[in-house]
Amino acid sequence: MAATKRGLAVLFGSTIGAKTVMAVTGLALILFLLTHMGGNLLIYFGPDVFNAYAKSLKSAGGGGLVWVARGGLLAMFATHVAMAFKLQLRNRAARPLGYAYEATVEASWASRYMILTGLLVLAFVVLHLAHYTVGVFNPDYLTWHDAEGRHDAYRMVVTAFSHPLVALSYVVAMVVLALHLVHGFQSLFRSLGNSHEQAREALSKASLGLALALAFGFCLAPVGVLLGWIQPVEVTQPAPGK
Ligand code: HEM
Repeated sequence: MAATKRGLAVLFGSTIGAKTVMAVTGLALILFLLTHMGGNLLIYFGPDVFNAYAKSLKSAGGGGLVWVARGGLLAMFATHVAMAFKLQLRNRAARPLGYAYEATVEASWASRYMILTGLLVLAFVVLHLAHYTVGVFNPDYLTWHDAEGRHDAYRMVVTAFSHPLVALSYVVAMVVLALHLVHGFQSLFRSLGNSHEQAREALSKASLGLALALAFGFCLAPVGVLLGWIQPVEVTQPAPGK
């Protein structure tokens, strides 16, 4: 017990431990993003496929698994953000007067603004959950059902993105996400110990590829609705209870 406590103190308390925790949680969040993006692209297969997919996620393991997954995701997000602040505060404390000269000239824009882009992604996630999961901006979204009685997630997403400002705000958020990932992905591998000079260039190319692929994949839903590639549904079925 005491050994476990000591181990956790080292992991979360030391700089190297905090960096490792950030890297592992960052990797888990990237895996979530890849899965989420793949799921979103099912919208191109029409309402039946998309709503069946949304239902299968929510009813996995009798509905209990989704809460386990949500809890895990929340823990990953919270730990990632907490460690970022901890490292930032520690860096500041280590050099209270700042650099005597501009030492960050060689650092990329993305690496210098990790905290800013991270906070913007966090703000996006809060708004995104309010938008689709909680239905804060349009409570009707959660009452829409298709002919099979499933939540009409397809209609919800297509209706939301048919407002150009909503669609464009998602596109802007995905650009910010890409900026965060372009540095975050390579940095997580460095934190996990891969700092070979030859690997660096390959890693920075892979990071750019991953960031662009994710941003592009996520943008395909809002842009697809705006350009008419994804059609609105004919609403034949009133929501139950309406
Ligand atoms: C255009 C891009 C995106 C679209 C169309 C989209 C769509 C959706 C939809 C339809 C849901 C399910 C809502 C529900 O029925 O409960 C959802 C949930 C979620 N999305 Fe996204 N999403 C996008 C981008 C993102 C990004 C970039 C992130 C993270 C940075 C993200 C994080 C989440 C999270 C955490 C959930 C909640 C999962 C759950 O517990 O149900 N999404 N999204």
